[in-house]
Amino acid sequence: MREQVWFFRLFIVFVIICVYRVLLQYVLKYRHCPNPFCSKCLGSGTMRERVIRILEGNDFNSYRVGETKESKEEAERLNTLVLTNLLEHKRLLSKNIEKPTIYYHRGLSSTLYYIEHANLLKTYRDCAILLDKYDMLRQELIILLQQNNGKWKIDPINKRSLFYLYENGTENELNCKLMPQTFELLQTLPNAIISNADCLFANVMITCLDPMILPSDTQEYGVTNCRIRCHLGLQCIAQDSDNKEVYIVANKYKRLPLENNHMVAYNDSAAHQYVNNTNYKQYILTVDLWHPDLSTSMRKHLAKVFHSRLST
Ligand SMILES: *[C@@H]1O[C@H](CO)[C@@H](O)[C@H](O)[C@H]1NC(C)=O
Ligand SMILES: *[C@@H]1O[C@H](CO)[C@@H](O)[C@H](O)[C@H]1NC(C)=O
Ligand SMILES: *[C@@H]1O[C@H](CO)[C@@H](O)[C@H](O)[C@H]1NC(C)=O
Repeated sequence: MREQVWFFRLFIVFVIICVYRVLLQYVLKYRHCPNPFCSKCLGSGTMRERVIRILEGNDFNSYRVGETKESKEEAERLNTLVLTNLLEHKRLLSKNIEKPTIYYHRGLSSTLYYIEHANLLKTYRDCAILLDKYDMLRQELIILLQQNNGKWKIDPINKRSLFYLYENGTENELNCKLMPQTFELLQTLPNAIISNADCLFANVMITCLDPMILPSDTQEYGVTNCRIRCHLGLQCIAQDSDNKEVYIVANKYKRLPLENNHMVAYNDSAAHQYVNNTNYKQYILTVDLWHPDLSTSMRKHLAKVFHSRLST
């Protein structure tokens, strides 16, 4: 009888150890997956949860690109900053008009909620570079439309079609070949997010606004407040030249007109909506730029953390 009790106790201890080991292995595997782009890890949870998992595993180093000169401490400092922002995402966004869907970066100055043409040229050299080549950009678009070629993506909800040159950090080679000079020009923009390779936040596209009435509550929110989205009107046709009928409504009340040879920029992490009150299709060039407060090292770091390979 005594022996049986001892045997039973031993058995219980054995079972507990087994269960503990299995759980431990599972937790370790889950938290510190050696491959930051492992399909199992990437396939689960929201984008933010996935990034947090990668940053929490110490193997972030394993996908750091060799060319950077930043010291280990600097990298760790930036890493902690980004991770803290991600972990506190929900709290940071409550009572905030900015509601980026993926990443909110604390402490960026907010004077930039929109910038109109004249000020934009002072803030961003990129905009002056684009405007300087306006004729070329417009010409290439007209040829593109005549050829009726390339890959347009339809966004049925927002009634527009998008001709991506870069989508979520990935170059669309077919489309870029169809606009070779535009492509070359894009490589010269100092603050474009595409100047950091493979960043999820980087898009460049031709946006075509369909002549469609949208319900007034279709507000959109961008993925992060780290970027400033700028638009250059390439083929915007006004119905009545006195009336600016093609515009973006930023933060529910501010109208930013979309016109030919004219640029606007805004922080797309707050609510916004495109409006086309004409009977014509409207074509604009959209380029994502970094928020000017972000340092070069922070931009590089963000580009590595929010890598285009996260996009599924
Ligand atoms: C983004 O825009 C909102 C309003 O549209 C503004 O309150 C906020 O401060 C802006 N943030 C940045 C970083 O510019
Ligand atoms: C855009 O153009 C159409 C023309 O068919 C016009 O009827 C409509 O009011 C405009 N759309 C809006 C509000 O988005
Ligand atoms: C790009 O990112 C947006 C926003 O996260 C997402 O809705 C879209 O599906 C992505 N596109 C691709 C091709 O992954």
